[in-house]
Amino acid sequence: MCGIVGAVAKRNITPVLIEGLKRLEYRGYDSCGVAVHLDGKLTRSRSTSRVTDLESQVREARLDGFTGIAHTRWATHGAPASHNAHPHFSPTEDNARIALVHNGIIENHDELRAELKGLGYVFTSQTDTEVIAHLVDHMYTGDLFETVQQAVKRLHGAYAIAVFAREEPHRVVAARQGSPLILGVGEGENFVASDAMALAGTTNQIIYLEEGDVVDLQLARYWIVDAEGRPAEREVKTVHAHTGAAELGPYRHYMQKEIFEQPRVIGDTLEGVTGIMPELFGDGAYGVFKEIDRVLILACGTSYYAGLTAKYWIESIAKVPVSVEIASEYRYRDSVPNPQTLVVTITQSGETADTLAALKHARSLGMPHTLTICNVSTSAMVRECKLAYITRAGVEVGVASTKAFTTQLAALFLLTLTLAQVNGRLTEEEEAAHLKQMRHLPVALSSVLALEPQIIAWAEEFARKENALFLGRGMHYPIALEGALKLKEISYIHAEAYPAGELKHGPLALVTEEMPVVTIAPNDALLEKLKSNMQEVRARGGQLYVFADVDSRITSGDGVHVIRLPEHYGDLSPILHVAALQLLAYHTALARGTDVDKPRNLAKSVTVE
Ligand code: F6R
Repeated sequence: MCGIVGAVAKRNITPVLIEGLKRLEYRGYDSCGVAVHLDGKLTRSRSTSRVTDLESQVREARLDGFTGIAHTRWATHGAPASHNAHPHFSPTEDNARIALVHNGIIENHDELRAELKGLGYVFTSQTDTEVIAHLVDHMYTGDLFETVQQAVKRLHGAYAIAVFAREEPHRVVAARQGSPLILGVGEGENFVASDAMALAGTTNQIIYLEEGDVVDLQLARYWIVDAEGRPAEREVKTVHAHTGAAELGPYRHYMQKEIFEQPRVIGDTLEGVTGIMPELFGDGAYGVFKEIDRVLILACGTSYYAGLTAKYWIESIAKVPVSVEIASEYRYRDSVPNPQTLVVTITQSGETADTLAALKHARSLGMPHTLTICNVSTSAMVRECKLAYITRAGVEVGVASTKAFTTQLAALFLLTLTLAQVNGRLTEEEEAAHLKQMRHLPVALSSVLALEPQIIAWAEEFARKENALFLGRGMHYPIALEGALKLKEISYIHAEAYPAGELKHGPLALVTEEMPVVTIAPNDALLEKLKSNMQEVRARGGQLYVFADVDSRITSGDGVHVIRLPEHYGDLSPILHVAALQLLAYHTALARGTDVDKPRNLAKSVTVE
């Protein structure tokens, strides 16, 4: 998703801007650009290629400057093309007075565009961003800070912007509403960025701007006003953002590395869990958990599947009713609120626009008890929720989520046990047994990852297919969904997942000899039912690829391929089975030669709705 970096300094700032863009690359983008103040002019360079190409371009063009802004764009309005890449200039390229970058979506851009065209502005892109650049130019009073405060009042929608003017060479003005933006405080220099990671290595003194804030960055000072234009004090935090540029080591891709990091990061996520203690979720958690009588989980994509898995756990172990909603649906539908609800958001990034909006919607309906399971302690989501459990997956660079998912599951299992304990549903023996099982999880997971060579052999066959079905039952149905999502995201093979019992109600029509059917077959109470569903597939000639447990009595044979996971892992079995499916997706994509870490059209952090 789009990324912003901006700076006012006394040194050539272009390398800092480029480095910032590199640190934001993990979010996904399809074009990038940078603009600086150079010899009294605004000059820019844009590219539809990678940031390293932009870097060569700016080096050749000697695009050096003390003040500048830079951007990675993930196309929303207008195709990924260099004329749509940011920064946008106004009024024209040759006579640029204003340069601007923007994240978010301006909903009234058509109306503003018509108005600005009427005033003689010529548009060179299809973006909503160029509208803001022309609007700022049109309203410019000679004082950019004052102008931006007035201009943003005309915008409807979500934005984080950074802008500078030819007439004010040592000033960048930034504003946010609905899209994240941070301020980096340096010594005699100041920065703005869409997240703290962009400034790692430059400054760790970070201010998280609030909704409606407008900030004036100059060399030795910065000044913030709130949405009403009143001076605003915002706390400066010391943030140790990881660089995300971790070494690949022996791995070919970040996704592969992140799959293999799972035993360690699950261990890290559960470190310090010596017993079931509600306070692990934050101060006051015990009171909240005691008061609520239901759980509402809000999330998107892979995080939503973590929520679906948790529903099985929480209802079966803690006996608390759970509903799980896709955030982008929940935020716009009429629902029946209950104040006794624990609203749980699950998000790797903590910046997903739909999940943040769904949380705010739930709160506006009178549900004050909010908890997030999140991987970024400094994210908007953690700041918005009363309670939080921070997963310790570390920076996830691969766009397709892997270690973030399994650490979310680990945290959600801990939440399950905590709710069960608070509700008197857990004996001491059960608590001890569950904790023991959780502690052993890293070892159990490592033995699943050791199955990689067998999974590679399957992947060679999958790479030649264009469709695949995934089947699971019970708490492994969300794992089938996640397996199918991983495969389609990175290998571009069309994959769908069904609860195995649903097969005969429609999807069985798709089964032919050409159709691989991945079946998750743990040795649980539903295994015999699942075996009947497998027969239904075989009877139609479908090829079964079964992930069974060591002791499930399923044997390989004609059209039935079996890989056995080394142990059956009871309630935590979804965490083991999903690791096998991640490896299958990874190696299939590798065999098809796709860009595994940066799949087409996708962004890591989805900050627009
Ligand atoms: C899929 C994937 C996405 C994210 C989704 C939510 O591999 O990564 O489906 O899970 O965009 O993102 P977060 O968890 O950051 O809210």
